[in-house]
Amino acid sequence: MFLLSHIYIVLALQLGGVFGVALRPYESLAGLTREEVDAFARSVKVVGGQPVPPAIKDTSSKLVNDKAHPWFPLAPGQQRGPCPGLNTLASHGYLPRSGVASPGQIVTAVQEGFNMAWDLATLVTYGAFLVDGNPLTNLMSIGSTSRLTGPAPPKPALVSGLSTHGTFEGDASMTRSDAFLGDNHSFNETLFDQLVQISKEVGGGKYNVSAAAEVRFQRFQDSVARNPTFNFANPRFATAFVETIFPLAFFIDGRDKSLALDLDVMRGFFKDSRMPHDFHRREGAFEGGGDEFDIIQSSHNYFPGFNNGTVNNFVPDPNFLGTQTEEICALYEKFVNTTMELYPNPQGALRKALNVNLDNFFIPVSSGCTQLHPFP
Ligand code: HEM
Ligand SMILES: *[C@@H]1O[C@H](CO)[C@@H](O)[C@H](O)[C@H]1NC(C)=O
Ligand SMILES: *[C@@H]1O[C@H](CO)[C@@H](O)[C@H](O)[C@H]1NC(C)=O
Ligand SMILES: *[C@@H]1O[C@H](CO)[C@@H](O)[C@H](O)[C@H]1NC(C)=O
Ligand SMILES: *[C@@H]1O[C@H](CO)[C@@H](O)[C@H](O)[C@H]1NC(C)=O
Ligand SMILES: *[C@@H]1O[C@H](CO)[C@@H](O)[C@H](O)[C@H]1NC(C)=O
Repeated sequence: MFLLSHIYIVLALQLGGVFGVALRPYESLAGLTREEVDAFARSVKVVGGQPVPPAIKDTSSKLVNDKAHPWFPLAPGQQRGPCPGLNTLASHGYLPRSGVASPGQIVTAVQEGFNMAWDLATLVTYGAFLVDGNPLTNLMSIGSTSRLTGPAPPKPALVSGLSTHGTFEGDASMTRSDAFLGDNHSFNETLFDQLVQISKEVGGGKYNVSAAAEVRFQRFQDSVARNPTFNFANPRFATAFVETIFPLAFFIDGRDKSLALDLDVMRGFFKDSRMPHDFHRREGAFEGGGDEFDIIQSSHNYFPGFNNGTVNNFVPDPNFLGTQTEEICALYEKFVNTTMELYPNPQGALRKALNVNLDNFFIPVSSGCTQLHPFP
């Protein structure tokens, strides 16, 4: 007890005690659930930034819906969010089933479960973690705000998970509504039905690259027409296209080389966070799918931009981005900028943790972009 109180006091001194924790170290743990006790334990522990775990060595295809990773339906208190990939990993136990994980756990899980390349995993995970995670406890919710992520640093920091609109979560998702129009993180049956319809029309009844291109365009047009706040600028201009490729890259069984995804299998991942029986992950690590990205992005006349406050008035983002390298560096810069907005003047353990995670985030783009040091 002495030790816990001591750590709590150190934390309180460092952060001015602005926490909003439900539990205090001196409160009784009696009658709490296992998760509440876990939450308590986390609420007094500063883990801070940690090194990125190493790349997995064996990237061959193998059974991943295995005995060690059975699917379970959601239990009370567990949450899922806007990403069908991470939702599925949590529902199969590759990530904690609570839906609260460290960035290191996420980097390892997306490699193990789906063979996402280490670089891509590192970029996406640390970008998300900087803007949606808790740098002190080193935990992030893959859904909405959760007390399991522990006491948050003071505002304007937003430690509210991947469902937070405008940090990473964005508009014109395939199966989730725009935040302006409705529920921005739950599976939407109407939207999935539209995807099925398009896949029947141009994919021969499957979700293939042609279907992906038309789904992307239809969702874009729908947001232009109905969402006055529609934002399709950096970083959404990149992630919106990459995410249409992810189902082709990751949800097709590794023994199937067709690049066409069965719609029932797709629904299982997107709606139920569930791998099909006997599912084998892809063969080889997936680095980003440059060819498919180009096909889908050039299939219609897109440019990064936003509606100007009224519908059907889509105007270009003044910081127009040219080549794909520039797009990635701009994405990197945008996440760093958002981190600075969320943490205007971080001190002590918080500053140290942010710097470790900023360094981690930079690793995958280090050969092509210039590192920014917002907290020297
Ligand atoms: C590496 C860590 C990852 C993070 C932090 C992450 C985070 C996210 C977030 C925040 C979104 C919501 C964006 C939006 O549509 O507004 C999203 C969407 C998506 N993610 Fe992930 N993701 C990760 C890895 C993966 C993996 C490994 C897969 C596939 C196995 C995946 C598949 C998808 C798909 C398909 C969507 C689009 C959903 C839709 O448009 O309806 N993600 N992800
Ligand atoms: C699901 O999407 C449809 C079509 O865009 C929309 O009308 C409906 O409001 C959405 N549902 C929710 C809960 O957001
Ligand atoms: C995202 O959707 C949920 C509804 O499920 C809503 O409570 C939340 O406010 C939305 N976020 C934003 C920023 O609109
Ligand atoms: C998608 O499937 C349809 C129907 O089989 C086919 O015509 C189309 O060429 C496929 N698209 C790609 C990019 O292979
Ligand atoms: C948006 O653009 C339209 C068409 O150019 C213009 O009529 C409208 O005034 C603009 N709205 C704002 C808020 O800038
Ligand atoms: C980041 O912020 C700086 C300083 O405000 C700005 O000049 C730059 O354009 C921003 N970068 C992006 C990609 O938004």
